[in-house]
Amino acid sequence: MLSGDSSHVVVGVSGGIAAYKAVNVVRLLKKTGLDVWVVPTANALRMVGAATWEAVSGHPVYTDPFDGAEDVAHVLLGSKAKAFLLVPATANVIGKLANGIADDMLSTTVLSATCPIMVAPAMHHQMWTNPAVKDNISRLKKRGIHFIGPVSGELTSGDSGIGRLAEPEEIVDSFLSLLNSLDDYSLRGKHVVVTAGGTREPLDPVRFLGNYSSGRQGVEIARAAYLAGAEVTLVDVNLEVPAPAGVNLVKAHTALELQEVLNNLFQDLDILVMTAAVADYRPAIVADSKLKKSQNHLSQIELIENPDILAGLGKLPRENKILVGFAAETAGGQLGIEYARKKILEKQTDILVYNQVGHGRGFGEVTNHVCILDSDGSIMVESSGSKQDLAKLIISNIACFKK
Ligand SMILES: Cc1cc2nc3c(=O)[nH]c(=O)nc-3n(C[C@H](O)[C@H](O)[C@H](O)COP(=O)(O)O)c2cc1C
Repeated sequence: MLSGDSSHVVVGVSGGIAAYKAVNVVRLLKKTGLDVWVVPTANALRMVGAATWEAVSGHPVYTDPFDGAEDVAHVLLGSKAKAFLLVPATANVIGKLANGIADDMLSTTVLSATCPIMVAPAMHHQMWTNPAVKDNISRLKKRGIHFIGPVSGELTSGDSGIGRLAEPEEIVDSFLSLLNSLDDYSLRGKHVVVTAGGTREPLDPVRFLGNYSSGRQGVEIARAAYLAGAEVTLVDVNLEVPAPAGVNLVKAHTALELQEVLNNLFQDLDILVMTAAVADYRPAIVADSKLKKSQNHLSQIELIENPDILAGLGKLPRENKILVGFAAETAGGQLGIEYARKKILEKQTDILVYNQVGHGRGFGEVTNHVCILDSDGSIMVESSGSKQDLAKLIISNIACFKK
């Protein structure tokens, strides 16, 4: 799970005009569950104040290595970091890094870091194309420092050209890919099966009993697992949103079809994430032709119970497989959590993601609120955000989950 050192990352901010965009980068990284520490330079603080960095990161910020000297904060921050992101990186800070200069908190911390470093430069195109800057960049690249951007576009000076900071979302995705390539976060070599959507239980050739699940959250989880390096099979249960590129697709329409698909896949999967909403009951009889209102066929429908697929899989020997269930409950607060805990016991899942649904929440909506519980029912993490952000959070927690 994401806590303690495994989620510790440092974001160094230097004094470019794009410093304000780094606020969004920090906010997005925090939403994935990372423990983000910001080290701004003194000039960065002239662009965006310390209070903003402290509020978005949830940690104090230091700009001078003599602050927090009792803890030797620069070594502590640098050596605990899983990855280091410099955003925006000025020509000055790039020059210092290339030449091993350590004359403030940021340059000292980055020199004491042994983790992968990603640099997101931003500067006027005349600075970017200056031979001194070009030389520094090529030296850093040779040392294995990762770069994202800059991109071409409008610059603050009013003219345009190369030098603009890459978009915050793009920086976050690249940084997360870098983190995911590290052992703690990677799903490389893992086969992840994600079920997404909602079952449709046919009544006759034109009607079915269904639910509001669009499959959006499951699709985002499949995408995040793919970005984390996994081989992903997405079981498309009447998806209303497009499947992500790069994943294997298998279709299932009803609970029985889904059960069959999962029984076939179970042997070869490492992680199963069951986001699909599965009907508890199905019509006892599926009519061959359209049922007629005039013949009173529709006033009563006899139902029979569907198998509890996850509970069935939860009883099978699973070695190191990780089973992740979803509990979509209309009950909120403590009651919702209690329902979720009951579900963990019933289904024997390793992780259960609880989200409140109904009354405009959960289904189809682009934002969601989730609470991730482990098999003891303890809350690992709770967060709100876009389904994309929450998918990254869920996948990082699964990747770090040790049975
Ligand atoms: C309004 C303003 C905008 C600036 N924007 C940039 C920039 O985008 N990129 C850059 O390399 N330097 C920029 N600078 C220059 C840096 O602030 C300057 O090189 C400073 O020494 C960088 O300090 P630092 O790297 O320690 O933060 C800007 C300066 C000002 C006053």
